[in-house]
Amino acid sequence: MSVIRRGAEAEIRRDEFMGRQVLVKSRVPKSYRHPTLDQSLRAHRTRVEAKLLQEARACGVPTPVVYDIDTTKAEIWMQEIVGPRVKDALQTAGPEEMRAMAEEIGRMVGRLHSHGMTHGDLTTSNMILRDGRVWFIDLSLGSKAASLEEMGVDMHLLREAFQSAHSDLMRAYDIITDAYVREYERGKEVLAKVRDIEERGRYS
Ligand SMILES: Nc1ncnc2c1ncn2[C@@H]1O[C@H](COP(=O)(O)OP(=O)(O)O)[C@@H](O)[C@H]1O
Ligand SMILES: [Mg+2]
Repeated sequence: MSVIRRGAEAEIRRDEFMGRQVLVKSRVPKSYRHPTLDQSLRAHRTRVEAKLLQEARACGVPTPVVYDIDTTKAEIWMQEIVGPRVKDALQTAGPEEMRAMAEEIGRMVGRLHSHGMTHGDLTTSNMILRDGRVWFIDLSLGSKAASLEEMGVDMHLLREAFQSAHSDLMRAYDIITDAYVREYERGKEVLAKVRDIEERGRYS
């Protein structure tokens, strides 16, 4: 079947599952790791990702439906979310679209955090825009009983993604945090952690 994307850790291909077209994320073996360690690491990340995709979805955070998981092959069979990555959509978005996307990101990350989960790699490459909603993928570095510090790392990554670009995007980050603290009652504490993390970064 056709490989449509090849990342550092995983290969994405299209395949068929019970008569429907699905995406398969397959973690490829790494020859620089010890084979036993490699196998258990790939199985672990696959398991974590599938669980978090499903739990996030159950809390109302849009993620692909998981159809099947194969820990030996380190594969997740899931729904394909058709749409541009938020990273690309931001390039062409007008002010209103930008505001809507930022609101949605803040609200959904707030919801994820309020249920004790983190994403772990919260960049705009891991978000897809579809039907006016932001869909989250690639949760293998996330956690289920997350500390405020881990949530701070999520928000810090998000801030960096928006800071590195032009000033319009910096405004988008403020919209994100406004929506975030509205959704998550401990949001303000997390944002204080973000400042700690960034202070530490500056002096280390
Ligand atoms: N369910 C999905 N629907 C649509 N595109 C996807 C899906 N899963 C992955 N992709 C695409 O494949 C890319 C890599 O997948 P990802 O899960 O982010 O793996 P990696 O760990 O390599 O970053 C994503 O940036 C996205 O473009
Ligand atoms: Mg990714």
